[in-house]
Amino acid sequence: MKGIILAGGTGTRLYPMTLAMNKQLLHIYDKPMIYYPLSTLMLAGIQDILIISSQDAQPNFEKLLGNGNHLGLNISYQQQEKPNGIAEAFIIGEEFISNDPCALILGDNVFHGQGLGKLLSRCAELETGAKIFATWVSDPERYGVVDLDKDGNIRGLIEKPKVAPSNWAVAGLYFFDYNVSSIAKSISPSPRGELEILDVIKQYLEEDKLEIEKLGRGYAWLDTGTPQSLLEAATFVQTLQQRQGLGICCPEEIALSQKFISLKQFKILAKKYSSSEYGKLLNKTIQDTSK
Ligand code: DAU
Repeated sequence: MKGIILAGGTGTRLYPMTLAMNKQLLHIYDKPMIYYPLSTLMLAGIQDILIISSQDAQPNFEKLLGNGNHLGLNISYQQQEKPNGIAEAFIIGEEFISNDPCALILGDNVFHGQGLGKLLSRCAELETGAKIFATWVSDPERYGVVDLDKDGNIRGLIEKPKVAPSNWAVAGLYFFDYNVSSIAKSISPSPRGELEILDVIKQYLEEDKLEIEKLGRGYAWLDTGTPQSLLEAATFVQTLQQRQGLGICCPEEIALSQKFISLKQFKILAKKYSSSEYGKLLNKTIQDTSK
């Protein structure tokens, strides 16, 4: 399974913060936003990762993450000229995807919860069809929404409906088989001028090849699209990390636990940040590992 992080966009809802800075390079508490979706893909066991961003932002992502080898990853980069829609990721990434199944995560989506790694690694076994995640939210009108019948089967999907058919929002993490690029190429832009991810998913639904996983109470799916939600996400991470002394979405730590890197390699990474709070968390992992 390959993985794409879509980290472009204009971030207009966060202006002026995003006037000179890509949204996914802003921080959520103690680490850059992109660490969170990157961690999610790593938890799924994915090591071959494509980061799609804008021409301006790409050098900064490369500075931050390089080729990913230090994390046991193989990271490559491509550019999206302008935000033509989420589904364009599969056209830009067609060569990268090749004949493999592929996960896509939006660069501003944060997932956290007990057992998430197990759930995601099961999803990463997908070979045919598609899998999406639905989360119960109080404000479904802000998202893609799933329309379910009384037996819980999907009847349809609607992007930002005026009146939502349910409170189940489609989270920004999707697993697809290798057909996804040709499906993305076959859809037309929506009235708002974007290649819509829901139009790709609808094709799988029509062919009866769509599975939906509901993320229940034990999981946090956080949005970072507005100053308020960005602050709430930061507070969530800070509260949990301070209370437990355990890192949330630290790629170095996940690389170690997934055995993408050795303890020796991890120690070298942790040393680099030793004067920051983040480095202290990593060093705590070293102490815990040697207990
Ligand atoms: O967060 C989940 C929601 O994400 C889903 O429920 C919706 O179905 C889906 O359309 C999307 O809605 P948003 O309104 O949040 O999408 P937004 O345009 O804000 O883009 C999400 C991220 O993807 C953001 O980090 C920017 C990036 N992006 C987006 C587009 C449209 C790109 O890099 N390129 C693009 O062309």
